[in-house]
Amino acid sequence: MILPIYVYGQPVLREQAKDITPDYPNLKELIANMFETMRQADGVGLAAPQIGLPIRVVVITLDPSSDEYPEFKDFNKAYINPHILETGGEEVSMEEGCLSLPGIHESVKRANEIRVKYMDEDFVEHEETVTGYLARVMQHEFDHLDGKMFIDHLSPLRKQMIRGRLNAMLKGKARSSYRMKQVK
Ligand code: NI
Repeated sequence: MILPIYVYGQPVLREQAKDITPDYPNLKELIANMFETMRQADGVGLAAPQIGLPIRVVVITLDPSSDEYPEFKDFNKAYINPHILETGGEEVSMEEGCLSLPGIHESVKRANEIRVKYMDEDFVEHEETVTGYLARVMQHEFDHLDGKMFIDHLSPLRKQMIRGRLNAMLKGKARSSYRMKQVK
């Protein structure tokens, strides 16, 4: 089932999301719905707060990027209760977008290497060191679980440049090809 994507201005996007337990109701169905919602909106990642749930669940698909990154062919993964333990490596700039910020694309500086722990869909714990593009997508998505969005990483000047579009979103005037839940 395709769910509406919550847009900038929705308070849930600024909440601290909570870890879940294995008895969380209908988790498999929720994850399937998140994958479907992300894909139809052409996203590479989706965090539960973006569909209105303040819980630590994220889905990532890098399959659509596999032309550029062949190692990510068929990469589709759900992350339960992810936490970044450490960041390192050099800082790298790359343009990012977000389904909760339709129409905004800005360069964001992030660590090239992270140490993460998370559980898979079966609540098996994993701890990994991740680099490059996946590390970037993870940092973007896991930020959502701490109430952060990529625009928070922009310089005051860049933020000033997008102020008009952000204000339009607060008035419920965002436009996109997918179904959204705006504040108004
Ligand atoms: Ni996002």
